Amino acid sequence: MMIICSENGKVGITTAMEVLKARGSALDAVEAGIRLVEANAEDHSVGLGGYPNLLGAVELDASLMDGSTRMSGAVGAIKGFAHPISIARAVLEKLPHVLLVGEGAERFAREMGFEEREMLTEAAAAAWREKLLRVMDAPTLAELPERRDLWRWVQLSSDPQRSGGTTNFIAMDSIGNLASGVSTSGWFAKYPGRLGDSPIIGAGNYADSRYGAATCTGMGEMAIRAGTARSAILHLQQGASPEEAGRRVMEDLDTLGGPYLSGMNVLILDAQGRHAGMTSHAEGRNYLVLDEAMTAPETFTRTLIATRQHWQGA
Ligand code: GLY
Repeated sequence: MMIICSENGKVGITTAMEVLKARGSALDAVEAGIRLVEANAEDHSVGLGGYPNLLGAVELDASLMDGSTRMSGAVGAIKGFAHPISIARAVLEKLPHVLLVGEGAERFAREMGFEEREMLTEAAAAAWREKLLRVMDAPTLAELPERRDLWRWVQLSSDPQRSGGTTNFIAMDSIGNLASGVSTSGWFAKYPGRLGDSPIIGAGNYADSRYGAATCTGMGEMAIRAGTARSAILHLQQGASPEEAGRRVMEDLDTLGGPYLSGMNVLILDAQGRHAGMTSHAEGRNYLVLDEAMTAPETFTRTLIATRQHWQGA
């Protein structure tokens, strides 16, 4: 039994292992761990307290995948619900679909009896206002909802990983099944309705118990374009170690072109319990590992594989 997660998963990793030790499934463990990150208002890129979109609304994305069946559930751009990862699980279990977004996802969450609440905290609202007022005056800010040129301001978007990080969990349960999950509020000041890689199976999340599971944080648009999580598992299938699979997907990301390129982080756990973490951001980025024999999570340093980063060609 093993859990690996991004560093902000610290609040949930022990609970996730307890779920496994109580004979819960890998999917149960991933959901339990991520719920605790979603409830942590100090983390400004996941769940409660997540930074809002350009209009000041918190829009959340989440997905999980069961590596034993490759059944998946995801929600995107959902507002007003505390635990998108659990709504994603309900999509997996109750619907023939994989991904619900926006109003449809919210309607489904209500049908399933999920808790509704305001997700914008005072701290996140103040950060939003303060940052936007650096580039626009107060009347412009007030009229943003009616303006027809929101696209101009989206240049303000910033990577959640730089301010706390999307959360990733991968679990291997007592019978060797793998599951993976991702939850995020996405990029700060993103265009309303923007989805990153977190709810896109194959981009930010992929699990196949035969080979391994991979999850991403960072600039979701890049992982969508490169199919990063799925590619990592194909590399495992072809015999690469997690470290080599991670290196190859990062090198592939480095071949992307265009004006908007930022950082990426990848976590990989293979079916043998070997793990790797990659980052293109900076030295000293970590991830956490906990197996059933350990009394506390161990911190591992991600391998730094620098990729080209520029924003609108700057
Ligand atoms: N990787 C999270 C996002 O781009 O929204």
